[in-house]
Parts: sequence; structure tokens; C-alpha cells
Amino acid sequence: MTWMITGGAGYIGAHVARAMAGAGERVVVLDDISAGVPARLPADIPLIRGSSLDGELLRRLFAEHGVTGVVHLAARKQVGESVEQPLRYYRENVGGLVTLLEAVADAGIKRFVFSSSAAVYGNPPDVDLVSEDTPCVPINPYGETKLAGEWLVRAAGRAHGIATVCLRYFNVAGSASPELADTGVYNVIPMVFDRLTRDEAPRIFGDDHPTPDGTCVRDYIHVADLADAHLAAARRVQAHPEGDLTVNIGRGDGVSVRELVTLIGEVSGDHRPALVEPRREGDAPRAVADAGLAAKELGFTARRGVREMVESAWEGWCLHHPEARRA
Ligand SMILES: NC(=O)c1ccc[n+]([C@@H]2O[C@H](COP(=O)([O-])OP(=O)(O)OC[C@H]3O[C@@H](n4cnc5c(N)ncnc54)[C@H](O)[C@@H]3O)[C@@H](O)[C@H]2O)c1
Repeated sequence: MTWMITGGAGYIGAHVARAMAGAGERVVVLDDISAGVPARLPADIPLIRGSSLDGELLRRLFAEHGVTGVVHLAARKQVGESVEQPLRYYRENVGGLVTLLEAVADAGIKRFVFSSSAAVYGNPPDVDLVSEDTPCVPINPYGETKLAGEWLVRAAGRAHGIATVCLRYFNVAGSASPELADTGVYNVIPMVFDRLTRDEAPRIFGDDHPTPDGTCVRDYIHVADLADAHLAAARRVQAHPEGDLTVNIGRGDGVSVRELVTLIGEVSGDHRPALVEPRREGDAPRAVADAGLAAKELGFTARRGVREMVESAWEGWCLHHPEARRA
């Protein structure tokens, strides 16, 4: 098999490309470098600079490289931006996916893995674990494009005999090495690092939620585990050349924001107390994956814990922000 990994120079994509190549799969990366970093990829993984929105380019690359499977990570992923620019998000994340699936179907490619997100659930109901049959009610255009993407992938798969897996990632964190770290400040761990680096106290939004310590509980997954989940998905569509699967990828274990901030204090050596601000409207108190289906269908269980995520994320942060390491 030869796998095309779209968005493979991105934070998650580079981990996926390395994990799959390391496991003996042939991979080729397509990335327009709008948010990617070419240096995340080793020299022996070919990187083609181009857009997954370009159907002609896709057809040529599929033929030139003998592509037999696609792992599609390329997307816009910022929730706030998606509220301001919904048309762009629909055009790139949904329209672009139509173009890609057309090219896949025309080329006779029969295996497809799609990056979805727990954002498809929106604010999940008050349940202990969010299973795949929890209703999907996204609350922003980003989540809507991921849900529409799942529909497209499943429908195209069924119509064209493509085996598909949609992976609903929960909160992704950490890095396999500092050079591969996430450079964006879009989720809680880098946001806390950013505050500490600016000599400001971390912020916690609400400590009056109905959770054990009053702060929101989330499910964090190490990006290296997530990469292993992609490998498992790739192996599944190879072994089962029919059918579709939509599956949560998380640890099935909740961590509160308060616990996370305490852990970040331990790892960074900066123990300043957090500022508690009012709850943000619409934040679900708890969103933790039921990880059972991934274990059953993919044989995948996350191995790395939250401390490992925070430690590796901190190493990556300090590489890009040397001023952060004061201790
Ligand atoms: N990071 C998270 O916590 C998270 C959670 C759930 C789902 N996801 C999904 O995982 C995927 C990867 O996310 P990430 O965190 O690695 O983001 P990222 O921005 O680091 O990576 C996306 C990569 O795609 C590339 N790209 C974007 N549009 C492209 C296009 N049209 N053609 C070619 N390349 C393009 C970018 O240059 C970048 O390298 C996305 O689909 C995202 O929605 C991420």
C-alpha cells in the first residue's frame, strides 16, 4: 500500500506520517504549508507542497505515487475563526473533501481514514462517558464541518466501495519530540503555558460546575497515541476492505482543568495560583470518551498518561519560547 497523508506536515499529521512510516507503511505527504512545518518530516518521507482542494493535482499525485489509501487530516481547525469565516470553513473542510473524495473514487482508491473531532458532539449531555451513539449536535461551524465530513466520507464509501474510518479525536496534547510540538495556542495546555510565559496567572473558567472540584472535566489524549490509532485504522481498512467505522479516540478518563493546571505547575515549576473567572456560556461540565469501541474494533487503547502529555508539551513549548523556562 501507499498512503497519502494530507496535512502531514501539521502537528498531528507529522506524528501520523512518522508512526506509519516507522511501522513499515509507504507514505507520501500532501500539505499546502498554510499551517504545516516541513521540518517536522524526516527526509525519507516525500512532501508535496500543494492543496487537497486541487482535484487535478490529486489525480496526478495518486497516479504518480500509486496511492492506494488516504489519511485525510488537512483542514482548518480553529473554532473561533470558523464562527467568523463559516463560508471558508465549509468551502475548505466540506467542499474540499468532496473534491478529494471524487478524486479518490475516480482513482479506484479503496481505503480512507478521516480526522473527525469530538466537536461533532457539541456540548454532550450529562453522561459519564460519551459513546459514538450520543447525539451529534455541533455548536459551531468547525464542528458542523467535521460532522458533514463524516457523512460525506460514509456516503462516498458506501457508494464507491471504499472502506472508511472516521476518528473522533478528543483533546489532543503533547508531542513525541519537542520539534513536533503544536505551535498554536488554541487549547488549554498551550493557553496556560502562554499565560505563565507572560508572567500571568492561568485562568480557570468556572469552578461551580457539577464536577468533583467544580471545574470542567475533559479527556486528553497524547498525540503519539493518536498516531498509533491512525495506524490501527489504516490496518483495519486494509484487513476489512468494506464497511465503515466511526469511533472515539480518547483515554476514557477525565481530568479536570484544576488538576491540569496543578500538573502544569509541577512540570513547569511555576506554581502560581489560578485566577477563577466566571463560567463560559455553553461549556459542558464533562466530556469524556467512551473508548470501548476503539478497543474492540481497532484494538487501540491509549498508553500514555496526562503527566507525559504535559511534560512533552512543556518541552516543545520551551523549544519555541526559551524565555518560558525560568526555574
Ligand atoms: N489538534 C486537535 O486538538 C484536534 C482535535 C480534533 C480534530 N483535529 C483535526 O485533526 C486534523 C489535524 O489537526 P492539527 O492539530 O494537526 O492541525 P494543523 O493545523 O497543525 O495541521 C493541519 C495541516 O493541514 C495543512 N492544510 C490545511 N489545509 C490544507 C489543504 N487544503 N491542503 C493541504 N494541506 C492543508 C496545514 O498546512 C497543516 O500542516 C484537522 O483535520 C483537525 O480538524 C485536531
